[in-house]
Amino acid sequence: MTSSELDESRLRRLIEAGADVVSNLDTDSLLGQIVETAAEITGARYAALGILNANRDGLDRFITFGIDDETRMRIGDPPSGLGVLGVLIKHPEPIRMHRVSEHPESFGFPPNHPPMESFLGAPIIIGDDVYGNLYLTDKRGGDFDQSDQDAVELLAGWAAIAINNARMVRKERLRAVIEASEKERHRWALELHDETLQGLGALRLLLSAAQRSEDPTRMRAAIEDVLDQLSLEITGLRGLITELRPAALDSLGLEAALESLGRRAAGTGDFDLELDIEFGRHSRLAEASELEITAYRLVQEAISNASKHARASLVVLRVKRDDTAIDIEVIDNGVGFDPQTIQAAGFGLTGMRERVAIVNGRLDIESQAGEGTRIHAHLPLAD
Ligand SMILES: Nc1ncnc2c1ncn2[C@@H]1O[C@H](COP(=O)(O)OP(=O)(O)OP(=O)(O)O)[C@@H](O)[C@H]1O
Ligand SMILES: [Mg+2]
Repeated sequence: MTSSELDESRLRRLIEAGADVVSNLDTDSLLGQIVETAAEITGARYAALGILNANRDGLDRFITFGIDDETRMRIGDPPSGLGVLGVLIKHPEPIRMHRVSEHPESFGFPPNHPPMESFLGAPIIIGDDVYGNLYLTDKRGGDFDQSDQDAVELLAGWAAIAINNARMVRKERLRAVIEASEKERHRWALELHDETLQGLGALRLLLSAAQRSEDPTRMRAAIEDVLDQLSLEITGLRGLITELRPAALDSLGLEAALESLGRRAAGTGDFDLELDIEFGRHSRLAEASELEITAYRLVQEAISNASKHARASLVVLRVKRDDTAIDIEVIDNGVGFDPQTIQAAGFGLTGMRERVAIVNGRLDIESQAGEGTRIHAHLPLAD
């Protein structure tokens, strides 16, 4: 088929590829499909898609079609963006050629590269931003024509959308993480100000009163007050430090850290706490770090919300760990709230969602006025 119009079956393939872009395919498999579709629609033997790195001086990713793994290994490094491919980036216009080696910028092929003749390339571009290029070589039975070029430009446009979407999602997530940690710092600053600084101020007052006192009995009494106040401060600071970086998490592991977190919360709140933590034989996570901290922070925030907002008489903390995941439930029988409308209110719920998203988990918040609240997080263990 050498018609310069796109026939029905080629149009159908294009429409399918477009549908993939708006569905939820992950970027890598989507780009793989775009490359494959480009080759099929045009009848090219080989196709490739290169994505530029952030500095635009090399490729971040290189996806090929038609070259088997062995050949790919023998060729070695992916193209560096010199030669004809570099032209596509510097002057982002489609290029169509009878023989690629005829192009004035052609560098020739590296050793072990299969010989390639006809060439069709299109930049992957949105506005002035060049993300990379999509190119095809060796059309079966002739040269690439205008209809091939139209199809490839369209596919390159979709690839640009997919890459742009993925970058925006990453940026948004990063932005949310930075914002969350700023807010957390702010919270600790407030806490230190309200608790520790106030406490130290009170200590100074007590001490200067003791200093002025002539009467040894009153001086001794004042010093006793100072010592009491100091003990309180030490306990308070120790609590703060534990919350900032729970030592129990490092030394005893998640199970014990969660238990002690629960008990501390129940000790200071007006509710009963039911603990149901079951790690079975998995008591210590090998991959301590991120997942354990996520689980810990989540429980910490959920319990703190329950004690700050719920006015509950009972809070249940249930944690189960098996071979594949950690499941966490924090349930209270308090006043409840509407999770839809209140989302933006504080930073706690947002932070929870972000943390869970980062470890590819799932978070459900079920709550209704007067019906209490149930937070359920499913955190898959990394493979
Ligand atoms: N268990 C709960 N029971 C009742 N209301 C809740 C509960 N958890 C959250 N809420 C409501 O949702 C709002 C948002 O919670 P979130 O944790 O995001 O913020 P916050 O606790 O107010 O502030 P922060 O967590 O930043 O200290 C709360 O202000 C409260 O109105
Ligand atoms: Mg909160």
